[in-house]
Amino acid sequence: MEYSSHSIFPLMISILLVTLGFLPPLAEARAFFVFGDSLVDSGNNNYLATTARADSYPYGIDYPTHRATGRFSNGLNIPDILSEQLGSESTLPYLSPELTGEKLLVGANFASAGIGILNDTGIQFINIIRIHAQLEFFRQYQQRVSALIGPDETERLVSEALVLMTLGGNDFVNNYYLVPFSARSRQFALPDYVVYLISEYRKILARLYELGARRVLVTGTGPLGCVPAEIALRGRNGECAAELQEAAALFNPQLEQMISELNNDIGSDVFISANAFKMHMDFISDPQAYGFVTSKVACCGQGPYNGIGLCTIASNLCPNRDVYAFWDAFHPSERANRFIVQQFMIGSNKYMNPMNLSTILALDSRALN
Ligand SMILES: *[C@@H]1O[C@H](CO)[C@@H](O)[C@H](O)[C@H]1NC(C)=O
Ligand SMILES: *[C@@H]1O[C@H](CO)[C@@H](O)[C@H](O)[C@H]1NC(C)=O
Repeated sequence: MEYSSHSIFPLMISILLVTLGFLPPLAEARAFFVFGDSLVDSGNNNYLATTARADSYPYGIDYPTHRATGRFSNGLNIPDILSEQLGSESTLPYLSPELTGEKLLVGANFASAGIGILNDTGIQFINIIRIHAQLEFFRQYQQRVSALIGPDETERLVSEALVLMTLGGNDFVNNYYLVPFSARSRQFALPDYVVYLISEYRKILARLYELGARRVLVTGTGPLGCVPAEIALRGRNGECAAELQEAAALFNPQLEQMISELNNDIGSDVFISANAFKMHMDFISDPQAYGFVTSKVACCGQGPYNGIGLCTIASNLCPNRDVYAFWDAFHPSERANRFIVQQFMIGSNKYMNPMNLSTILALDSRALN
């Protein structure tokens, strides 16, 4: 960090923070912001009147506190593991009352289970934070931080931050394919729906850029047809459900293309595509190679593949979560999340485009020194 070249500012901040009873921020800490759906929600929905929640046993069974936190995982989720990699504590949910003062400088998690690119995705979950509202909270967050450290330092904190955006799966699972003859499936043939989603997604990413984000990791969708819920509901003989696989196969390459065009327009590699489809497919096609006994059966659930209904205290629960790729009918286990984040960090350009996160962290720390 270039603190030494701006002598007055850090001093003023330190005085301010000491006055307010805070420790000075760590020079190396990089803020982290998270946007998206249940794959990355760390508990915002706990504060909302919604059915999309993970706030009771056995969620969190392997979390350090062994309690449910709102994370859709047996333990840590992808943002937690990314925070570990950044050497930071986990970012708090934006709605958490604990997110005040110094903690704001670590970043914030705006994600909300059930949401999608479109406003009409996840309507059955009633009160969730749709993506435009998440972005509005991000603007509000910056005003709050500005009151703490001033507008210039806030702009710097945001532009130097890492941002994670995970969106799109629900636009299929909880919209287009939610019920037979859904409104969107009557309106659009699948290829046209995907084109529409990508055009709306582009506006969302452009808005994030406008709000100051400069390093944004964007994950595509996983193999939607291969989650235990879809194998149970639509798969034939335990195979991945064809129509959802087709949706992911259309969506992901167009997302990567759109991101590369957006970077070209901006003239900088602001957005990084993570090929979550391929990352998941690796352990779905050869679970044993990753130490999983199965990638089809969820650890927690009921019915075929433990894929029907919610994961609750009444569900089947596997004794060892580490040997299951899926924790519940839709969400990876902590151990699967670790493999995914590993690829974010060091994956080749088959997984990460235009480069992986370890390269980015090295580049950015050089730029700041
Ligand atoms: C979704 O809602 C937001 C406001 O909440 C609005 O700005 C945006 O245009 C809407 N998107 C579409 C595609 O209607
Ligand atoms: C990803 O990271 C590793 C270092 O961890 C590096 O050797 C490799 O070249 C990187 N790949 C790409 C495509 O950036």
